[in-house]
Amino acid sequence: MHLTVTVPATSANLGPGFDCLGLALGLYNTVEVTAREAGMLVTVEGEGQGIIAVDERNMMVQAMQRLSDQVGQPLPGLHLRQVNRIPVTSGLGSSAAAVLAGLLAANQLLGEQLSREEVLDLAVAIEGHPDNMAPALHGGLVMANRDGERLLVERLPVADLHVAVVVPDFALLTVEARAALPPHVPFADAVFNLGRLGLLLRALAEGDYEQLATAMQDRLHQPYRLPLVPGMAAAFDAARAADAHGVAISGAGPGVIAFAPDGHEAIAAAMQQAFAAAGLGSRSWVLSIDREGSRVS
Ligand code: HSE
Repeated sequence: MHLTVTVPATSANLGPGFDCLGLALGLYNTVEVTAREAGMLVTVEGEGQGIIAVDERNMMVQAMQRLSDQVGQPLPGLHLRQVNRIPVTSGLGSSAAAVLAGLLAANQLLGEQLSREEVLDLAVAIEGHPDNMAPALHGGLVMANRDGERLLVERLPVADLHVAVVVPDFALLTVEARAALPPHVPFADAVFNLGRLGLLLRALAEGDYEQLATAMQDRLHQPYRLPLVPGMAAAFDAARAADAHGVAISGAGPGVIAFAPDGHEAIAAAMQQAFAAAGLGSRSWVLSIDREGSRVS
């Protein structure tokens, strides 16, 4: 028995699509799952090595156990070799990837009792963020929104875009970034975001980089979050000065994503300089869009 599960990184929100829009990116965690006599052995290579728990607190292990409990079938002895390329606590969906990898692996091992939709429901119940989870599962651009107990999930057209992503060396947990948000927003700000979101969906579908500068503006979360990370507001300015068209906090941060037709290395370097001026080291990636989503082979 030998399974390989591959899950892409994701960038949620994309400016005005707070908590409902996400894009899968061509950066992947893979997990090789092989049989062993008994018990679960976890090894982690790459991102998160030495940080990610390798015992029963491991998010992938917990997700596998949750699915096993739900379908009422025990897991066999397994070695999970996690080879991670998605940086942890970066705003690029590493938690979603871990949970999804666990559920997809366990579902495959236990006879595919859950449909992909049921896997997504369970993933969101565990991790709480459909705007990362749905694009990580399906690939591409996905609108994912809660409707009471249900999830509304809509895959949307997206052109072959390229992005520069910079992740500063700054610990910002999603719960902290959410705690910075106000309980209420002005009506005018909600209307502002609705208008931008309409523009954004068209611009992403048609690859209209010019429109992205306006379309990625947001008043619901970024104004409250930009001050949380030293140099982040300056990184936005630096990216635009280096000819990025749309710039946004990736998910809840601290990563920043910038869209441009070309010049991605220079845009990333400009953002890294802005973080460096604020005393933060950082890393960068130039990424395309993932269209396949998660796969088990
Ligand atoms: N949309 C979430 C947030 C993050 O911005 O807090 C990822 O799902």
